[in-house]
Amino acid sequence: MEWCTSGRSLPLPTAARCEILLTQASYIHSVSNQHSLISVQLTQLSLVHLSFHSIPSHPQFTIMSLPPDFHVSFIGGGAMATAIASGIGAAKLVPYSQMSISDIRTDTPSLRQLSSKGVRVEQHGNRVVASRANVLILATKPDVLLPVLRELDPASSSCIKPDTIIVSIAAGLKLSQIEAVLPPRSKVIRTMPNTPMLVGCGACAYALGSNATKEDGEIVQKLLESIGLVVRVAEKDLDGVTGLSGSGPAFVFLFLEALMDGGVRAGLSREVATKLAAQTVMGAAKMVLEAGKHPAQLKDQVTSPGGTTIAGVHALESRAFRGIVMNAVVQAAKRAKELGQMNSNSNNNQATGKIQSKM
Ligand SMILES: NC(=O)c1ccc[n+]([C@@H]2O[C@H](COP(=O)([O-])OP(=O)(O)OC[C@H]3O[C@@H](n4cnc5c(N)ncnc54)[C@H](OP(=O)(O)O)[C@@H]3O)[C@@H](O)[C@H]2O)c1
Repeated sequence: MEWCTSGRSLPLPTAARCEILLTQASYIHSVSNQHSLISVQLTQLSLVHLSFHSIPSHPQFTIMSLPPDFHVSFIGGGAMATAIASGIGAAKLVPYSQMSISDIRTDTPSLRQLSSKGVRVEQHGNRVVASRANVLILATKPDVLLPVLRELDPASSSCIKPDTIIVSIAAGLKLSQIEAVLPPRSKVIRTMPNTPMLVGCGACAYALGSNATKEDGEIVQKLLESIGLVVRVAEKDLDGVTGLSGSGPAFVFLFLEALMDGGVRAGLSREVATKLAAQTVMGAAKMVLEAGKHPAQLKDQVTSPGGTTIAGVHALESRAFRGIVMNAVVQAAKRAKELGQMNSNSNNNQATGKIQSKM
């Protein structure tokens, strides 16, 4: 695969020029005056990084362009694949017509909808979609992923192009396990998404395989950011990510249910309690992300002396609320590590590479 350009730097003489560029941008990905990075998307296929400190006199402007025929393919067209493809298409990162999805069954509502938008949906077309891909997203359940990869015969020249970035979203499968069934020097990226990605509000971490570059990671990050927040970590940290953001939605659902029940116990209707509880969790999370303040600071701001909120906080803390939640994350991370080890052993022992997902 050939990238148009891996990046180039252009000197920009004035801050005013930066502003013109920003107003011309069709989509601003993130803007921060405090940090040194502004990331702007000028066209659907150009990722632009503008770095400066404070108001710059000579900022550096770096453009990373993807080829106009850049293609994203998916093997497995279930919940995750269709959510990611929809996100990428809606954000105009890649046109729908430059995405392909292969699945055993293609008559699902989500695949029909994507097909109507121009996505090339292929039944039993794993090899076909793999051969088109600049980024190939492996989106089957973990237990079939390695057999599916082997069936592709990835070493044959008619299948995966040498520079294709291969992305696994499968829980528990290590980079080394995936790399082992691919030709040497294959670029592999392992991600750990979470369920809220299905509604465009996920939290996802990824780790680079031995041949994937930082730039490969940035391309995958931009694509996945269309449905949530994405961070890069070392592979060893993905068990912790599994315990926190992977399993976390279930912990939050428990908390939400408890909040709702508390509201009902206090006399609210179930309908009102559900709406208020969900909005409260979302709003509190947004305050942490947007205010950039420690949750303890935000909590202190709403706990007046002798007031209602501190009475509730006292009730939670008298049962070690924070310790219980910490234990939940630690236990989930520990279990992820154990399952990863079991999968790895099972893969070493079995030619079929059967992996069990227990997330
Ligand atoms: N859903 C989540 O919130 C979530 C969160 C974190 C990670 N993940 C990971 O994301 C991956 C996909 O999850 P999902 O929820 O999207 O699963 P899913 O809805 O079951 O989608 C997987 C799809 O792959 C198809 N498939 C099975 N064998 C295939 C083959 N040989 N060739 C092509 N397609 C094949 C399945 O068809 P059949 O149904 O007919 O078998 C199914 O349509 C999993 O590895 C999971 O660990 C998911």
